[in-house]
Amino acid sequence: MEAGAVPGRLGRVLIARQEVAIRVADLGLAIRRDYAGRFPLFVGILKGALVFAADLVRAAGLPSSLDFMGVSSYGSAAQSSGVVRLTADLSVSIEGRDVILVEDIIDSGRTLAYLRRNLGTRHPKSLAACVLLDKVARREVEVAVDYVGFAIPDEFVVGYGLDHGGYYRSLRDVVVLDPNPAD
Ligand code: IMP
Ligand code: MG
Repeated sequence: MEAGAVPGRLGRVLIARQEVAIRVADLGLAIRRDYAGRFPLFVGILKGALVFAADLVRAAGLPSSLDFMGVSSYGSAAQSSGVVRLTADLSVSIEGRDVILVEDIIDSGRTLAYLRRNLGTRHPKSLAACVLLDKVARREVEVAVDYVGFAIPDEFVVGYGLDHGGYYRSLRDVVVLDPNPAD
């Protein structure tokens, strides 16, 4: 790859922006119903879930708060290192709160399993997870997910917050990417 060039090559649109919007609205309604009368704390996982979290909290329309946590497992490669590292912590205590983890995608399940363990030790009142995309066939560790947007095939995707090497997050559709095109 040329230095400074945007990595990979975009392929077909897997989930168009209109479908994403409809599904996020559905997820928001489900959360609104399930958390009626409560004041949940949404925890978005940086940076991939930034766009999803912003849309989801508005779709839920609850009196809620929003915070973020950073984890890193991939570096710039499209292959998981299997090691999850906390890169930025929450700015508030979650003790006694109804926490909803918001993540962009589950692949092996390691990131979500790590986050559930990590947040579980901080004594939240409840802990749920909402994930936009689930690569079901790639699961290596079992982990509970309460809300799933779409089950997707085993392909690398970018857009709607998801990146490759830091790029493509601002695409409005979820698009298949060839991370290492031959030419
Ligand atoms: P896991 O720990 O293997 O489940 O991987 C989850 C993390 O890997 C997500 O938070 C994403 O950042 C990243 N990831 C997995 N698959 C993709 C993909 O297709 N596109 C972009 N990021 C991905
Ligand atoms: Mg991520």
